[in-house]
Amino acid sequence: MAMDKNEIVLKVNRVYNPPRAIVDGSYIKPEEYERLYAESIKDPESFWAKIAEEELHWFRRWDRVRAGDHPYYRWFVNGKLNITYNCLDRHVKAGKRNKLAYIYINEENHEVKVTYGELLDMVNRFANGLKSLGIQRGDRVAIYMPLIVEQIVAMLACARIGALHSVVFGGFSAPALRLRIMDAQAKVVITSTWTKRRGKKIDLKSSVDEAVADLPFLEKVVVVQREGDDYELVEKEVDFHGLVKSQSSVCEPEVMDSEDPLFILYTSGTTGKPKGVLHTVGGYNVYTHYTTKIVFDLHENDIFWSTADPGWITGHSYLVYGPLSVGVTSVIAEGAPDYPDPGWWWSIIERYKVNVFYTAPTVVRLFMRYGEEWPRKYDLSSLRILGCVGEPLNPEAWIWFYEQIGKKNCALIDTWWQTETGGHMITTIPSYAAKPGKAGKPFFGIVADVVDKTGQPVAPNTVGSLVIKQPWPSGLRTCWNEPERYEKYWKTIAPYYLAGDLATKDEDGYIMFLGRADDVLNVSGHRIGTAEVESALVSHPAVAEAAVIGKPHPLKGESIKGFLILKHGQEPSELLIEDLKLHVRRELGSLAVPDELQVLDSLPKTRSGKIMRRVLKSHELGMEVGDISTLED
Ligand code: PRX
Repeated sequence: MAMDKNEIVLKVNRVYNPPRAIVDGSYIKPEEYERLYAESIKDPESFWAKIAEEELHWFRRWDRVRAGDHPYYRWFVNGKLNITYNCLDRHVKAGKRNKLAYIYINEENHEVKVTYGELLDMVNRFANGLKSLGIQRGDRVAIYMPLIVEQIVAMLACARIGALHSVVFGGFSAPALRLRIMDAQAKVVITSTWTKRRGKKIDLKSSVDEAVADLPFLEKVVVVQREGDDYELVEKEVDFHGLVKSQSSVCEPEVMDSEDPLFILYTSGTTGKPKGVLHTVGGYNVYTHYTTKIVFDLHENDIFWSTADPGWITGHSYLVYGPLSVGVTSVIAEGAPDYPDPGWWWSIIERYKVNVFYTAPTVVRLFMRYGEEWPRKYDLSSLRILGCVGEPLNPEAWIWFYEQIGKKNCALIDTWWQTETGGHMITTIPSYAAKPGKAGKPFFGIVADVVDKTGQPVAPNTVGSLVIKQPWPSGLRTCWNEPERYEKYWKTIAPYYLAGDLATKDEDGYIMFLGRADDVLNVSGHRIGTAEVESALVSHPAVAEAAVIGKPHPLKGESIKGFLILKHGQEPSELLIEDLKLHVRRELGSLAVPDELQVLDSLPKTRSGKIMRRVLKSHELGMEVGDISTLED
């Protein structure tokens, strides 16, 4: 990752100051920001101890805030707590029994409202139900469900009794689910008969049947039967609602050590086998609570909508644990963003007066493709904060989101983080100036930098690797059964945590992400991030989405090939291709101009919406595609 004078860096340096009303109402004022950040990294132990003390309930206070030998850190050592107590009991005891925890909505506009009191009741009953099935502290439970209230109940019930949940996204195939069940040796799988997407029923139960066939350690399959189902349970199967009804609504929370495991979440690594990222109770509760509160600037009466699915880390941290711990009301929607029509999501924002809306860049670009007329039909004036996560939010999408959805009245935050980090790491906070295309600055308590392969900071606006230099409370503690994979994060650019992302940092300290390190191209010795070229391509008015790969080239090392989806009404033509090349040349310079551009109807994406360049590349080069279990279609 040595500095290369020929590296191309997209020059985006527009600064957007948040509207005055947002600054005035926010927890952290811009003028306090630098001082607070400096304090947080000078003495992180005091910083996090204050938050843990003031914001959360502990059955026993910790002895030391941080201990352990690198890279095995422990936080809130000997502290005792239960995250569900902080998420539920604490609010009920504070008089918020009748406050809504979730508003669920589906494609047919069927609505379910659940209060904090009702959620606690269901979680306790289901936790007792899990105990009755023989589940004990430390056991693993796999959850393979759509985004319904029962999924959240299942996760919290595990946490209540100290069992580890391993949520597997409902879109994964049976073999992918089986692999995860086997790796964690889950004793119970919780599922639902089906989910609905774009008007079609998608059967989940038969995937589970296939996934659990002949697994001797698997004891029970708990099934949520959905409206209209008349399903006959067979051996090993238990009815979710029957179990809930049969149990007491009193279930004392298990007293967990701060460093006891909370959950495993599988994520893709560089090898084919997914890694089981392990998070623990104390640090995760403190960090996700605080980031939820500060990064989304959530206040008591805010309505929060994080569009993530609990199958991914965003759902864990910012749809379940963070928002519940803070005690806000969240919206959850089962289905696709653009069905029954591309206005559905905007209608939800209007109906529930959503204040804070957190989604993914791929969705923003999808809506850009449908055009402004859809959001314009709805009153989106309740919105105050918009957020994105998952991949670089290119400046064009940033500005569209800000102008067409936020109506220039909202703060827009681009949060960079990972399954491994547990919570937001690099982001501006709503009261602080943002720059389109740049995630921003390290969050409080986070020491991050962009470095070369020896760990030395690179010059401003030069591409390097993003590293985290100090441990933080919600970092992964290990990879399930694979400690060597955990250690690898800290060994490659020792002693730092290597995120695997390419980034640049500007003169003001704003970090911009350019994609994964494995997506970097090297053309005639010039390093070019695929995300930069893609960003340039999608800034062309004819282009809706773009993916770029490198192809071996006898002279240049690599040449660039771009795959494009055009906006509705645009037709591919030689003239357009030439115009696009000219456009990239204009945006980035001749080095970044793709040798080839090909128009496609769709791009291969993971079910979480990330473009799988690897699939395009293998196909292009006639190579084995490898593991495509995460491919959407
Ligand atoms: O490459 C970065 C990208 O997503 C990766 C982490 O993926 P995952 O563990 O699935 O978690 C996604 C949700 C937190 C990162 O290594 N990524 C995530 N957020 C951003 C991002 N890339 C650019 N900008 C972001 N805001």
